[in-house]
Amino acid sequence: MFSGASLVKTSTGRVTNKAVFQYAFMNGGKTAGLNLQRGFQGWANVPMGPPDPIFGISETFKKDSFPKKINLGVGAYRDDTGKPYVLPSVRTAEAEILKQDLDKEYLPMTGDNSFCEEATRMAYGDVYDSISNRLVAAQSVSGTGALLLSSRFFSKFYPSKDIYISNPTWGNHKNVFSNAGLNIKEYRYYNPITKGLDIEGMLSDLSQAPNSSIVLLHACAHNPTGVDPTHAQWNDILRVVRDKGHFVLLDMAYQGFASGDFARDTYATQLFASNNVPMFLCQSFAKNMGLYGERVGCFSSLTASPEEAARFESQLKILVRASYSNPPVHGARIARFILKNNDLRAQWAGEVKGMASRIISMRQALRSILENDLKSKHGWKHITDQIGMFCYTGLTPEQVATLSRDYHIYLTKNGRISIAGINTSNVRYLAEAIHTVTSN
Ligand SMILES: Cc1ncc(COP(=O)(O)O)c(C=O)c1O
Repeated sequence: MFSGASLVKTSTGRVTNKAVFQYAFMNGGKTAGLNLQRGFQGWANVPMGPPDPIFGISETFKKDSFPKKINLGVGAYRDDTGKPYVLPSVRTAEAEILKQDLDKEYLPMTGDNSFCEEATRMAYGDVYDSISNRLVAAQSVSGTGALLLSSRFFSKFYPSKDIYISNPTWGNHKNVFSNAGLNIKEYRYYNPITKGLDIEGMLSDLSQAPNSSIVLLHACAHNPTGVDPTHAQWNDILRVVRDKGHFVLLDMAYQGFASGDFARDTYATQLFASNNVPMFLCQSFAKNMGLYGERVGCFSSLTASPEEAARFESQLKILVRASYSNPPVHGARIARFILKNNDLRAQWAGEVKGMASRIISMRQALRSILENDLKSKHGWKHITDQIGMFCYTGLTPEQVATLSRDYHIYLTKNGRISIAGINTSNVRYLAEAIHTVTSN
């Protein structure tokens, strides 16, 4: 960030502001008698913030030199050798795009329209054609960027400022929505006894929420629990949402990871859209295309009419312009190329199925070693019942701490493990460690 190891004097012998600034940072923020600028105290009251619960784990993991260390914190796919996986379809698309010798001009504020059309068509499935003339879509800075646009739109235009999120949910939901000034409320979701969905609690909490509240739902492969509603339960959720006039925000970061099939994972999206529930949808291509660092996502809003869509879009552009002006071009080109090329798209679907299958086989292996080989007295059925990238193990914060301290196995404090971090070489070591910490 601030390179250069020493203070720099100008020809007149005065220390420049830039150099003092560098010195202050190199000195851990203590200016040791030097000021950024005479009298400047602007950051004197900035407290040290806590590390991010997920990215913080990755940093600790990197520093650990133990050969059998395992990172089960971050939700990023790894192959069976524990390496990051660049999808072959992505490699092909990238090579083809490079051959085209394209320019690096700005995209429009709402991004690559053709990418957005393909992305939303994939998420809304059969319903797409009947809603496309009142659907507003914008390419976003991955899933988080789509959530950010939602949060800003709510904060500026939506009458209610209460957003209901599942307990538990992905940690960043609270950050994004509270940063935009929304009030975070929770609905019951996970039952720690059954390690499944607390559907009665959820329906009751959503019924008791004030009318027209915002309800954030995970479209598929719920993070962190790996527990999704059944189709019948989704229908019940729809009924409450309609009765109460709630606004639905669907977060779809894992399309394809729940069932291994893109179309099957669109049940919730299609259900709400076909019933004309006012909704936003936040899509990410980080996981299913492995485009984590390219930041490819799509925000879309189902409006009441083409005329309303035009007004909505005009305001969305204003929000984008003031936030980051327009989205990055490269990742969206890759995604568009794959989505628009039938052969490559079919290949990609196979690759996603492959990732989903490897995850399922790791769930089975972990459970089997715990139950059959190690004769663990605890029930581990939930490891294979839960779906998607994560398993909410039920490990306590103390057990999690022992795993990282004594076994160099890293996971979030809530006991969530990213199954994608497990492979045939480390699954036994992991099972043995879990067995030991849960036997004491
Ligand atoms: C539930 C959920 N929503 C959204 C995201 C956003 O991810 P990204 O911004 O990398 O697309 C994630 C990533 O872990 C997630 O788990």
